[in-house]
Amino acid sequence: MRRLLLRLLALSVLGLLMLGGWVVWLNRMPPLEPGGLPADAAQARLRGAYLARAGNCAACHTRPGGLPYAGGRAIETPFGTVFSSNLTPDRIHGLGAWSADDFWRALRHGQSRDGRWLSPAFPYTSYSLMQRQDSDDLYAFLSGLPAVAQANRPAALRFPFDTQAALGLWRALYFRPATLATRPDKSPSWNRGAYLVRALGHCGDCHSPRSALGGIASDDLLDGSLMPMRDWYAPSLRAPHEAGVSDWPRDQVLALLGTGMAARGSVLGPMAEIVQGSTQHLSADDRAAMVDYLQDLPASRQPRPAQYRPAAPGLLARGQEVYEQHCKDCHGAQGQGAPGAYPPLAGNRAVELKIPQNLIKVVIEGGFAPVTTGNPRPYGMPPFSHQLDDGDIAAVLSYVRQSWGNRADAVTANDVARAR
Ligand code: HEC
Ligand code: HEC
Ligand code: HEC
Repeated sequence: MRRLLLRLLALSVLGLLMLGGWVVWLNRMPPLEPGGLPADAAQARLRGAYLARAGNCAACHTRPGGLPYAGGRAIETPFGTVFSSNLTPDRIHGLGAWSADDFWRALRHGQSRDGRWLSPAFPYTSYSLMQRQDSDDLYAFLSGLPAVAQANRPAALRFPFDTQAALGLWRALYFRPATLATRPDKSPSWNRGAYLVRALGHCGDCHSPRSALGGIASDDLLDGSLMPMRDWYAPSLRAPHEAGVSDWPRDQVLALLGTGMAARGSVLGPMAEIVQGSTQHLSADDRAAMVDYLQDLPASRQPRPAQYRPAAPGLLARGQEVYEQHCKDCHGAQGQGAPGAYPPLAGNRAVELKIPQNLIKVVIEGGFAPVTTGNPRPYGMPPFSHQLDDGDIAAVLSYVRQSWGNRADAVTANDVARAR
C-alpha cells in the first residue's frame, strides 16, 4: 500500500514537472527587436499621443474621476477583477524607471518589467502585433505626461486564476507573439487598415469568439462574440446581418466610426466608448484604411438564421401598447427614427441580432450616442429600468423585432431577467 502511494506520488510529481516544463517551454519568447528613442522627441510624443488614441489606452488606464493614465480602473473578468496599471512616469508607481525595451516587452510579450506575466485583460494579444517604432513613440508620449504617485492595485482573482502558473498555462495555449505580414496583393491602405483593426484598435478583443478559457481561434477572428462578462454581444464584423459593413456605402461606415451615427443605426455601450475615445480621433486616411479592411473581411462562418420564433399575438399587442406609450415619440410610428437624432428600428440589423442582449441593455440602461466633434450633443435615450418590468420589456422588444419587416426571435421575460 505504502509503496503504491509512493509510486503515485512520484508519478504525479513527474507529471507536474513535465507540465511545468512544457508551459515554460511554450512561453519562451522570441528575442525583442531592437529600438530606442527616436531622434526627434517632440515629434515622437505627438505620434505617440495619436497612437494612444488609436489604441484607446486612456479608456482602460484612467479610473472614473481619476487622473489620465494613472490606472486603477477595475476590469471585470469571469475570473475576478483586474486593475489597470499606472502608466505615468512616476518612478515608484508608474513607468518612470522603465526603459523603452521594458515597455516594448510589455506590449510584445505581455510581461511586466520584473518579468511577471500580465493578465490578458490588458489586450496584449492584439498589441503584440504592433511595430517597434510605434511602441517607442507611445513610450515617448507616456514619458512626457505629468507623473502621478498613485499605487497600483493588485488583482482580485479567484484561485487558481490568481497564480502565474495559471497565466503560464493560458499563455502556452493561446499566446504567441506574431507579426502581421504585409499582404502584397492588397493596397497599402488595406494593409494599414489591417494594422489599425488587428493591432492598435484591438477590435478582435471584443468581436472575436473565445473558447471557455478565453482563447481566440484564428478562423473565428472578428466573427462575433459575447463579451467576457456576457452582458454585451459584440456582433460579427464579417456578417452583413450582424455588424459587417461589406454592403454599406463607404460614407456610412466612415460616419459610424467618426460620429457613432449612421443612417442604419448607431453605436451603443462599449462600442460608443470606442468611437468616443478612439476612432473619431483617427485621421481621415486612417479611418478610410480601416473601412478598406473591414469591407474586405472574409465571409462569416455564422449563417443568417433562416427561421425565427414568432411571438404570441397577445405579447405583440401588449408590446405595441408599450411602444406607442414610451418609444414612438422618438423612434416613430413606423420605427423610422429621425435622421441624425434617433436611430431607426425598422430595417436596423442591430434590432434583429439573434442574441437580444444589447437591446435589453439599451432599454434598461438607456444610452447616448458618443460625444464627437461631428455630433457634439447627441440625443439620448432614457433608461426604462424603473418604468417597465421584465414582461413589458420582453413585449416591446418582441414587437420591435417583429414589426415593419423586422424578423427576429421573440424576447422572453426570462431573457430580460437574465440580462438584468
Ligand atoms: C481593455 C483595457 C486595456 C487597454 C485598452 C489597455 N490596457 Fe494596458 N493594461 C490593462 C490592464 C488590466 C493591465 C494590468 C494587467 C496586470 O496587472 O496583469 C494593463 C497593463 C499595462 C502595462 C504593464 C504595466 C505594468 O506595470 O506592468 C502596460 C505597459 C500597458 N498596460 C500599456 C498599455 C498601452 C500602451 C495601451 C494602449 C496602446 C494599453 N495599455 C491599453 C488594461 C488595458
Ligand atoms: C470593448 C469592446 C469593443 C471593442 C474593442 C470594439 N467593439 Fe465594435 N462593438 C462592440 C459592441 C458591444 C457592439 C454592439 C453594440 C452596437 O451596436 O454598437 C459593437 C458594434 C460594432 C459595429 C456595428 C455597429 C452598428 O450599429 O451596426 C461595428 C461596425 C463595430 N463594432 C466595429 C468595431 C471596430 C472597427 C473596432 C476596432 C476599432 C471595434 N468595433 C472595437 C464592442 C467593441
Ligand atoms: C427620448 C427619445 C427616446 C425614447 C423615448 C426611446 N429611445 Fe430608443 N434610442 C434613442 C436614442 C437617442 C438612441 C441611440 C442611443 C445610443 O446610441 O446609445 C436609441 C437607441 C435605441 C435602440 C438601439 C438602436 C441601435 O441602432 O442600436 C433600441 C433597440 C431602442 N432605442 C429601443 C427603444 C425602445 C424599445 C423604446 C421604448 C421602450 C425606446 N427606444 C425609447 C432615443 C429614444
